[in-house]
Amino acid sequence: MTSPPHTTLVPRPTRSRFTTGHFTLTAETCLRVGEGAGPAADLLRTTLAAATGLPLKPAADGALALAVDSDLTGLGGEGYGLTIGRDSVLLRAREVAGLLRGVQTVRQLLPPAALLTAPQRGVTWSLPCAEITDVPHRPWRGAMLDVARHFQPLRYLLRYVDLLALHKINVFHLHLTDDQGWRMPVAALPKLTEIGGRRPRSMVGPSGDIHDGVPHGGAYTRTDLARLVSYAAERGITVLPEIEMPGHSRAALAAYPHLGNHPGRVLDVWTRWGVCDTILGLHDEVFDFCRTVLEDVMDVFPSPYVHLGGDECPLTEWTRHPAAAARLRETGLAGTAQLHRWFLGQVGAFLVRNGRRPVGWAETGTELPDGFTVMAWRDPAHALAAAERGHEVINSYHRATYFDYPQSGAAGEPAGQPGGVVSLRDVHGHDPVPEGASPRAAAHVLGTQAQLWTEYAATPERIEYLTYPRLCALADGGWSGPSTWADFTARLRGHTARLDALGVGRHP
Ligand code: ACM
Repeated sequence: MTSPPHTTLVPRPTRSRFTTGHFTLTAETCLRVGEGAGPAADLLRTTLAAATGLPLKPAADGALALAVDSDLTGLGGEGYGLTIGRDSVLLRAREVAGLLRGVQTVRQLLPPAALLTAPQRGVTWSLPCAEITDVPHRPWRGAMLDVARHFQPLRYLLRYVDLLALHKINVFHLHLTDDQGWRMPVAALPKLTEIGGRRPRSMVGPSGDIHDGVPHGGAYTRTDLARLVSYAAERGITVLPEIEMPGHSRAALAAYPHLGNHPGRVLDVWTRWGVCDTILGLHDEVFDFCRTVLEDVMDVFPSPYVHLGGDECPLTEWTRHPAAAARLRETGLAGTAQLHRWFLGQVGAFLVRNGRRPVGWAETGTELPDGFTVMAWRDPAHALAAAERGHEVINSYHRATYFDYPQSGAAGEPAGQPGGVVSLRDVHGHDPVPEGASPRAAAHVLGTQAQLWTEYAATPERIEYLTYPRLCALADGGWSGPSTWADFTARLRGHTARLDALGVGRHP
């Protein structure tokens, strides 16, 4: 016995009223596509074509209408209204992004077979009659994938985006560089990917002593990334690029040793996991390098935000270094610790001059320069401190949003990040607004984001096992706001039919 689709929507719409009767999509159903609604019509056709084969041709008197109406109030940029009657369907939004979200609701309201990739015969493509008004609870609902530790090909990133879109996630954060690999092409710096994009082996398990002996490598082309950006945009998703600095930069230092603190030193792309103490230097060439890289990043990624990392950066190499001493004299700063903020401030200002907004990982919540958007991952107190300081905050608390931790402590669970479990219930119970936040600070919390660091996730299969169903809980909280565990799990039980139709190898 399958549950009616409206009882299994993930995320749950803000307001919905379902009545008896159905609208059935057939080969004769046409789309009435209003001005500006073309991208939503394209998405509806594209996502339903494989299973249903429905042409959904455009027609001025089409029964399924898609309309952008700038006079609609109360829907914001991503909300939509969906009216399904027996003879017609109307999907309306103030902006096309809202229509793209509504298309995902239509997909979920159809039988799960609509999500299959092979043609289906004998299925009635019916939608339950309904009146839905749906507006997101939080403006930032992200998912980060680390393609530096383990590279994933473009075709998998496109599938990953499809699955995010189904759940109304709106930011795909791509962690493109780290100690173990550099994946971002930079025209003027080809060694970044040629040398920095490969390592001879990878560490197996957390101990540091065991390696697999298997070379690992990969890098994107500009064409790949342009395709990813446009594919994501067609689904209403912004791709947020991350270039790590000044730490987590060993792959760049392997390619261009002069960027480090000891010129002439030869470094390999790191073959260990963890925190590496080789970091970028403080000399002028380093800032030229950062600008050159970020110019290409901004060319490829239209995202208003650009992530500069900033986390886990031991400053031992700067201590008593002549370049650090010179910067301290130049800036009047009190000590090496302040040079970390100064470094990020220099590069962040370059982004701002180019109309972008810098993002960084919080180590304490108060150490990042003014104007940075803060991803608070270590401690809820850091999210609070950053929001009270006036930063925009994305709550990425590791105990609730790090999907590299195993989902359970059960025997037989594949090895994940050591040191804890992040259960579905932990994700579901996560409130992005930290306890004790004043209304002013709470207003600075943009939303929530899932993180998948891939030390222990080399393949798409493992990525999907770790991501689902936890991402369903994160997306539900971000879009719909809090729900009871009973309500969420009841909907999720039905929703798994959709994940199964899409071939998602989820955690049971
Ligand atoms: C992080 O987990 N190092 C942001």
